[in-house]
Amino acid sequence: MSVAVVYGSAMGNTEGAANMIASKLGISDVLNIADIDAAKINSYDKLICGTSTWGSGDLQDDWDGFDFSGLSLSGKTVAVFGMGDSESYSDTFCSGMGKLAENLKNAGANLVGEVSTDGYSFEASDAVVNDKFVGLALDNDNQEDQTEARIDAWIDQIRSYFA
Ligand SMILES: Cc1cc2nc3c(=O)[nH]c(=O)nc-3n(C[C@H](O)[C@H](O)[C@H](O)COP(=O)(O)O)c2cc1C
Repeated sequence: MSVAVVYGSAMGNTEGAANMIASKLGISDVLNIADIDAAKINSYDKLICGTSTWGSGDLQDDWDGFDFSGLSLSGKTVAVFGMGDSESYSDTFCSGMGKLAENLKNAGANLVGEVSTDGYSFEASDAVVNDKFVGLALDNDNQEDQTEARIDAWIDQIRSYFA
C-alpha cells in the first residue's frame, strides 16, 4: 500500500506539520504540491493532504493553481489537514481546508479524519461541515504550542487507515 503526504505551504507552517504527520505515521513520501502533477497523486493508494489558507478563505497558492480535474481518487481513503489563523482570520479560519476537501471529494476520495471544533475559537469556516472540521485544523500563529498534541490525537484517530 502506497501512502503520501501532500502539502501546499507558503511560509513553511503547513510543510512543518506535513513532515511531523508523516514522521509519526512512518510515511516517507512527503510531497510539495508545487512540484507534482495529478498523475503523481493518482499513483498513490492513500493520501493525507494539507493546505494553509490565504487571501480570504482561499487555498494556498500552489493548490489554488493545481488542476484538480486530472485527479482520479475513486474510493481512495484521504484525510486532510489545514493551517490557519483563528484570530486575524476568524471568519475564514482554515477555509482552505474545506475547499481542498471539497475538491478531493469531487475527485472520488473517501474522506476520513473529521475533528471536533471543541477547543478552537473562531467565527466561521468553510472547513466545518455538520458542526465538525472536515479534517485537522491547526493554528501555528496563535496556538503553536497545541500543534503537536493536536497532531498526536488526530493520528490516533486515523492511524488504522494509514498504517
Ligand atoms: C495575507 C494573509 C491572508 C491569510 N488568510 C487567512 C484566512 O483567510 N484564514 C486563515 O485561517 N488563515 C489565513 N492566513 C493565515 C495563514 O494561513 C497562516 O499564517 C499559516 O500558518 C500559513 O501557513 P503556510 O506557511 O504553510 O502557508 C492568512 C495569512 C496572511 C498573511
